[in-house]
Amino acid sequence: MTNQSSKRYKRPNKAGAPVLRLDGKAVADARRKVLQDKIAQFTQTRQRKPGLAVVIVGQDPASQVYVKSKVKTTTEVGMLSKHIELPETTSQADLQKLIQQLNEDKTIDGILVQLPLPKHIDTTTIVETIKPEKDPDGLTTGNLGLLMAGRKRVAPCTPQGVMKILEHYNLDPKGKNVVVVGRSNIVGKPMAQLMLDADATVTIAHSQTKNLKQHTKQADIVVVAAGKPQFLGADDFNENAIVIDVGIHRTQDNKVTGDVRFKELNVRAATPVPGGVGPMTIQMLMENTLALAELT
Ligand code: GUN
Repeated sequence: MTNQSSKRYKRPNKAGAPVLRLDGKAVADARRKVLQDKIAQFTQTRQRKPGLAVVIVGQDPASQVYVKSKVKTTTEVGMLSKHIELPETTSQADLQKLIQQLNEDKTIDGILVQLPLPKHIDTTTIVETIKPEKDPDGLTTGNLGLLMAGRKRVAPCTPQGVMKILEHYNLDPKGKNVVVVGRSNIVGKPMAQLMLDADATVTIAHSQTKNLKQHTKQADIVVVAAGKPQFLGADDFNENAIVIDVGIHRTQDNKVTGDVRFKELNVRAATPVPGGVGPMTIQMLMENTLALAELT
């Protein structure tokens, strides 16, 4: 795959080159076509479609948007989709019972419980109720453990999506200094592991890191998963850096923005928000579900 179709911003960095816009939407679209063929092939040989169940509890508007998009994409790529919407008042026991039923359902290969869950529900218990063999988020300790041990089943979707964007643009992390800003189980920690697996030298920075800029400024690749809108900008990166923005926030005037002030960047390459990492997260969810189906 080439980067010839990617749009380039006119703004030059200090070295005089334009900032390469890493177009996650285009990468996801290209991968989707390949995935659709693989799903059609699976369906023909196994006489069943791969199946993904998406469970949402409550009315969080952002979660509802994400879940609708996941459900729609599941059907579009040719998989069986089960969309389960539960009221905010659902008890932990009832949610566990549902997951246990889905664990035994032979038409379902992946179970995604949309996070965050309502406060009265213990997220760890719920995630751990999902059989690791049916965990396309790669979030169970079973799957995170395999990832850390170098025996990956599926990796969490967002960090996996970041690796695929870099791969698409031939940006190899091998031997590079990578700084991951954020240490969550869903992004920061698995991101660091995937970068390590790709032979990068990895630093994990977080909210307690002193002199963050000192770290990010020397990095070849910075993955920003701080969860803070517009947190980093031009000053925080060197002009040869590759900046990956994992943030997704809605502003007061209803615009979508990331953790990085994209427009002011003078770097080698960067992902925009929207249109960067976001579309890849859903694509990796689809790919992970097929991978789990193929293991049955
Ligand atoms: N909420 C926000 N992102 C995600 C995700 O990737 N998986 C799940 N299960 N919930 C989320």
